[in-house]
Amino acid sequence: MKILVTGGLGYIGSHVTVLLLEQNIEVLCVDNLDNSRLEVLDGINKITSKSPLFKNLDIKDKVELESLFKEHDDIQAIIHFAAHKSLTESLEKPLNYYNNNIVGLLNILNFSVEKDIPFIYSSSCTVYGDVKVSPINEENATNDPKSPYGNTKLIGEQILKDCFNASDKFKTIILRYFNPIGAHPSGYIGEYPLGTPQNLIPYLTQTVIGKHPFLRVFGSDYETEDGTCIRDYIHVMDLAKAHIESINYLISFKNKKMCEILNVGTGKGYSVLEVIKIFEKVTGEKVPFKVVGPREGDVPIAFADVKKIYTKMGWKTKFTLEDGLKSAWNWEKHLVKKF
Ligand code: UD1
Repeated sequence: MKILVTGGLGYIGSHVTVLLLEQNIEVLCVDNLDNSRLEVLDGINKITSKSPLFKNLDIKDKVELESLFKEHDDIQAIIHFAAHKSLTESLEKPLNYYNNNIVGLLNILNFSVEKDIPFIYSSSCTVYGDVKVSPINEENATNDPKSPYGNTKLIGEQILKDCFNASDKFKTIILRYFNPIGAHPSGYIGEYPLGTPQNLIPYLTQTVIGKHPFLRVFGSDYETEDGTCIRDYIHVMDLAKAHIESINYLISFKNKKMCEILNVGTGKGYSVLEVIKIFEKVTGEKVPFKVVGPREGDVPIAFADVKKIYTKMGWKTKFTLEDGLKSAWNWEKHLVKKF
């Protein structure tokens, strides 16, 4: 079996690539290295003793894509990660986000529809926008994602639904990720942010290693037990496994067409202060932090209802928040040794 993974050297894409290779699936990995590094291939190889077929390619380039699909006419599924993902950056460069995330999706989707190749789409809980009640299930409204990045994810979902409606054989699974954290237990691959990360865990580990003087805890007056925001932190290995289950589900599905939207989270929320406390406990390190004002756009509480993905595919998490934080720290130390 051959699977095309776009953005396969990125944070989630690289972990999925590892799991696919471990299942003896041939992986065709395309990435334009816009927000990833070629060395990720070494990490993948160290873990699996295998290498994906790799092509440095920008999926916005239709001509290149055309020849890729000509060369590989045996692709049986597409997992599409290649997209920009910073909410803050998207507010500054909206056109860049619409161009990259939507044009890229349309180009790749053309081949999926035309050649009848099942399509797994990486979406985000950001599509739920300003949620009032958690756990959030898939029926929750998706009105206002609050950023161009979030809009591109929601528009992407709509495009897929329209393809599904228009076809009698299009198969797609849309995975709405909550907050991915952690790294492969080997410490050979992990999150590799270029520039200063905006997300909590990479910023926290970078602070502890000495790259930042302190972690800013955004807001302490939210209506939560300790006043800080609550999120659903999902280990990247569990998240990667959800893609493998999605492939299995697509293959086993006998009906002609499919469009499933599934949350991927743990179903449990932790506050920022709880995360800091647990990190200190499992690593023995102190986290220097200061409480500052709230960050614009943050919702107080967001965690997933994960009944649907469990019912459909039997997927559930294996790793804990402790595992995620330990592996994130292990990875940060690996990065410091390397650079
Ligand atoms: C964001 C996106 C989400 C995406 C996720 C991972 C939204 C609303 N959320 O989630 O779609 O999947 O990133 O890329 O678009 N925090 C601090 N200090 C920091 C950084 C964060 O206190 O330096 C707090 C935040 O206020 C928040 C929590 O930590 O309460 C998690 O923040 P972050 O990791 O940025 O993820 P989200 O904003 O939840």
